[in-house]
Amino acid sequence: MANIVLIGFMGSGKSTIGSALAQKMGRFLLDTDSLIQTTYNQHIPEIFAQYGEQKFRELESQAIAWLSANVSNAIIATGGGMPIFNDISTLGEIYYLQSDFETILARLDHQERSKRPLFGDQAQAKALYLERQNLYAKVAHHTINANNDIPEILTEILTRHNASKRF
Ligand code: S3P
Repeated sequence: MANIVLIGFMGSGKSTIGSALAQKMGRFLLDTDSLIQTTYNQHIPEIFAQYGEQKFRELESQAIAWLSANVSNAIIATGGGMPIFNDISTLGEIYYLQSDFETILARLDHQERSKRPLFGDQAQAKALYLERQNLYAKVAHHTINANNDIPEILTEILTRHNASKRF
């Protein structure tokens, strides 16, 4: 069975929803940021600082190739920039978790923001958010309202998944 792939901006709930969805569907969750961090034994801010964003995007590209070749029937939570810089169409059925910027700000406290080198200050983050929105929607097979509570988001994804003949 195809993977269910979650995309969206930083703080849109990909890991939280991914975990809940995996448990509900009896699948396992693979988080691409975690895969990169554990494989290279470095946190993302360190990878960015030491090797630069370009290198991180190359690692994401390797992760896409590996997951596409080796993983099925999983839930995959992607890093927020993954579908912006790489083609993820081989990964599976793609869901865009669309959150308002205000929701994102409320979800990410200071500590969570500091783990994300591209979040920067609020104005920078907002500009990136606006720049990326259409791209996420274009790449996704489904756009989900991720401002709702978790149970509602899960129901929406499962309803779409069960109705989808494509995967
Ligand atoms: C990034 C998002 C992060 C992480 C990296 C770059 C981005 O993942 O991959 O800091 O470009 O939006 P999350 O979306 O899980 O925060």
